[in-house]
Amino acid sequence: MTLDRLVIRRPDDWHVHLRDGAMLKAVLPFTARQFGRAIVMPNLKPPATHAADAAAYRDRIRAALPDGVAFTPLMTAYLTDGTDAEDLARGFEEGVFAAAKLYPANATTNSAHGVTSIDRITPVLERMADIGMPLLIHGEVTDQSVDIFDREAVFIDSTLAPLLDRHPSLRVVLEHVTTADAVAFVRAHAASGRIGATITAHHLLINRSHIFQGGIRPHLYCLPIAKRESHRLALVGAATSGEAPFFLGTDTAPHTVTAKEAACGCAGCFTAANALELYAEAFEDAGALDRLEAFASLNGPRFYGLPPNEERVVLERRPTVVPDVILVSEGDAVLPFRSGETLRWSFAGAA
Ligand code: DOR
Ligand code: ZN
Repeated sequence: MTLDRLVIRRPDDWHVHLRDGAMLKAVLPFTARQFGRAIVMPNLKPPATHAADAAAYRDRIRAALPDGVAFTPLMTAYLTDGTDAEDLARGFEEGVFAAAKLYPANATTNSAHGVTSIDRITPVLERMADIGMPLLIHGEVTDQSVDIFDREAVFIDSTLAPLLDRHPSLRVVLEHVTTADAVAFVRAHAASGRIGATITAHHLLINRSHIFQGGIRPHLYCLPIAKRESHRLALVGAATSGEAPFFLGTDTAPHTVTAKEAACGCAGCFTAANALELYAEAFEDAGALDRLEAFASLNGPRFYGLPPNEERVVLERRPTVVPDVILVSEGDAVLPFRSGETLRWSFAGAA
């Protein structure tokens, strides 16, 4: 029997780039339409490093929400070598920060102010462990001599494993996992309850060959870069397992078409326009639509110590055409993932 209608608790997006200004205005309605809450990345220019920056950014997000849309932005601190443990802890205890984000310096977009060596923030991590503040990690080494497809696996061995040993009570989310190595590592630590992993829709749907299908496809370039098919299958296995550490985080990362289609194009896939429909395709292809709710709506809140959303939303088996482009301002647009293509599921709003 094929299922034609799926009702799940309203999901949350545990990793999203909303940007600022005109881009924020253009992309926020898509995320806020589908998700109840989202963990908002702080890699703005300049980055949101202090509680005051994050509180002001949260106000701008709230102000950019369409009328009548209930959506809760959960803010993160951008860690730098100079992060002050006191300011960070106060921001967490006052409810401004939900977590802190570790970008190894120069690992990805707007990460130039990131942490140059994890040892430099030991007091900050100790404080975070004490107060139960989650550390969200972009898990790639920045050593350019390491092959780009190996940077996540090398990070896990060289940095993440020792970090967890050094801080036995620190709660960690390995963001946008892309490898079988990451899945195995997270599973090996699952019993501790202190490790989570977000998985994007695009990493469930593409492997590295798609980036070069018939020519170079800049809109499929993101970081960490998609890996070979065996890794994609491991991600699908993890996401559809229902296992507690794995939860939804789109890493939707809008860049203008001009910035993507360039000699040195930016990393990021914009999936917010149809995020749930994309996840539904991946789950259905794996014969696991019945596990979508655990991944999208239950495992994340449990990790963050928040109640799941009470409201239900509906997905219907009815074709959705992904918009060709999203207009940001005159002359600037964002191209959604699967732009112009037809998806099998439609998001039909609240039940
Ligand atoms: O592809 C990505 N885009 N990966 C990241 O880690 C950052 C993001 C962005 O901000 O554009
Ligand atoms: Zn991201």
